[in-house]
Amino acid sequence: MHSNGQELIYESESEAATRAFGRRLGQWAEPDTVVALIGPLGAGKTQLVKGLAAGLEVRDVRKVSSPTFVIIREHPGRLRLYHADAYRVTAADLSEIGFEEMCFAGGIVVVEWADRAEDILPDDCLRITIDPTGPEQRRLICRPTGDRSRRLLDRCAVEETPSETRP
Ligand SMILES: Nc1ncnc2c1ncn2[C@@H]1O[C@H](COP(=O)(O)OP(=O)(O)O)[C@@H](O)[C@H]1O
Ligand SMILES: [Mg+2]
Repeated sequence: MHSNGQELIYESESEAATRAFGRRLGQWAEPDTVVALIGPLGAGKTQLVKGLAAGLEVRDVRKVSSPTFVIIREHPGRLRLYHADAYRVTAADLSEIGFEEMCFAGGIVVVEWADRAEDILPDDCLRITIDPTGPEQRRLICRPTGDRSRRLLDRCAVEETPSETRP
């Protein structure tokens, strides 16, 4: 993992490593965090969300899968997880079912195929581009676009989890 101040790059060597990175995001996420996932089919976007769900203490992480046909799935946890997928819908469709309001509803919003929903993403979101660099290798390029997402990324860059550092 290395950071140049603007971006943090995490080289994942396995599905488990991608999930572990997602878990840290979920453990540290504050209300109204929005994570925008960008990457081709099979990049590992949904695996990252599964890890994030585990970090948010979502009870049944097995239920977290690509919400391609339902557009947005909600999972109760420490904070509510709103899992959206823009693969088969337009930004206008997402907007119509209340996407922008969800970004400020006190939960965590994660969007797969976020490059197809640029117009409706909030100013402050954590953009993660997943670049397949080998059969099991993925480069996660993480770029915060505001204070909240920067704080989250800073916290994830340290190895400790909240439970290890919080009394
Ligand atoms: N380092 C890795 N990180 C994430 N997934 C990986 C990795 N290496 C292999 N994979 C595999 O790639 C696939 C990713 O699937 P998925 O998360 O559904 O992708 P997406 O949601 O981006 O289409 C899974 O079959 C997973 O096992
Ligand atoms: Mg997916």
